[in-house]
Amino acid sequence: DAESKKKLVLAGKKILVTAGPTYEAIDPVRFIGNHSSGKMGFAIADELASMGADVTLVTGPTAQTSKQKTIKRIDVTSAAQMLEACLAVYPGVNAAIMSAAVADYTPAEVAEQKIKKQDEELSIQLKKTTDILKTLGQQKAAGQILVGFALETNDEELNAISKLQKKNLDFIVLNSLNDAGAGFKGDTNKITIIDSALHKTMFDLKSKEAVARDICDKVTQLLNG
Ligand code: CTP
Ligand code: CA
Repeated sequence: DAESKKKLVLAGKKILVTAGPTYEAIDPVRFIGNHSSGKMGFAIADELASMGADVTLVTGPTAQTSKQKTIKRIDVTSAAQMLEACLAVYPGVNAAIMSAAVADYTPAEVAEQKIKKQDEELSIQLKKTTDILKTLGQQKAAGQILVGFALETNDEELNAISKLQKKNLDFIVLNSLNDAGAGFKGDTNKITIIDSALHKTMFDLKSKEAVARDICDKVTQLLNG
């Protein structure tokens, strides 16, 4: 079949992929989360593994399952746990693709007991999480490829370029929530890739599997020169 005829162009390459949302606990029964389905990250992990890469997939809570049996899956819940897992794996990989929708803020304190309903208004103090991608960018070794995502609703390209540069990325995948059929929840996505030379490639709306192929082709080009 087509799969087995495919050249294993990523054989011997170790790649870290993150996927899904994170859940930030408020109390023992509640959390702050987001609508990320995990589909994009799982599709990327499957595509890389089908090309022969040794893939570690660090994922937040999701119903997704991998098609490729060689993928090593690490399940995490919170942004702090995802950071810890990524820091452990990153030094040994050739590339990292960070597609997870990581919470930017987490409750400053987690209530030990379920918070009781009381006043008309309730405030929950939040503190910033560590930017995982930026942390990896600061640790990036020569030859390592680091890929991030940007989810934007306005000034898309400017914001994406700013993230690309601040986080020391080799390229960034821009998702615009303004494009119909694109984003978090669905089965399709429309992306623009901007690389460190600020070379921009716009892709059509396609299935997340096809989008994963476009992203992985770019990673393969960078890894294999
Ligand atoms: N990211 C991360 N750790 C965080 C927040 C984001 O690793 N704590 C990563 C995401 O996985 C993604 C990239 O950073 O690859 C961009 O995420 P995005 O939410 O678009 O950007 P932020 O830098 O968080 O900025 P903002 O949400 O304010 O636009
Ligand atoms: Ca964010």
